[in-house]
Amino acid sequence: MLSLTWLRVAGVAGVLIGIGLLLPAWGEDVKDKNDKEVKDKKDKDKEAKDKARSVEEIMEEMHGDNSLRRKIGKAAFANKLGDAKEPAEQWVKLAGELSKCEPPKNKDLEMTVKKDGKDVKVNAWKKRCADYEEQVQNVAKAVKSEKVQDVRDALNNIARSCLGCHNAHQPN
Ligand code: HEC
Repeated sequence: MLSLTWLRVAGVAGVLIGIGLLLPAWGEDVKDKNDKEVKDKKDKDKEAKDKARSVEEIMEEMHGDNSLRRKIGKAAFANKLGDAKEPAEQWVKLAGELSKCEPPKNKDLEMTVKKDGKDVKVNAWKKRCADYEEQVQNVAKAVKSEKVQDVRDALNNIARSCLGCHNAHQPN
């Protein structure tokens, strides 16, 4: 009885394959799986690359020639904030990576901040990275809201953060 049922199932499958109904579905499954594996591998490679990036490389991408900051500045200047959307997203991502890196100098340096009216000591690099990340997020928010003046203000705020961090953590 059972074997007859299976024969039938196999028979039906055979017919379906024969008329090309079942195979495309299977084929797609395999293809999806392959695509997924390829994608997973790409994600992993990319993750590894992101991890390996140094502060220097991140700085270069954010602030060097043809940098994300410059692209956004140009777009704001030309009143074309649409062009700034993608660079802004990339910038937020890179800024978030910064705190995971070790600075080349003074990684254990502490600084005092006010918390609930009290002085507390925190790791200076982590604090500066967090502040910087917040400022970059402000740029991205302003870009999204399409307010050119807000974008310019947010960019100017960031420009004031460079020196403090470099003085503390950039090698001479
Ligand atoms: C949170 C800390 C921090 C902030 C904020 C920061 N930087 Fe940096 N930056 C660094 C450190 C640390 C280095 C040194 C990296 C190295 O030499 O390994 C550096 C290096 C650089 C370099 C040299 C990169 C290279 O190729 O050698 C440039 C250019 C730069 N920063 C631009 C800026 C500008 C412009 C700003 C502000 C808009 C800024 N940075 C804000 C930490 C910071």
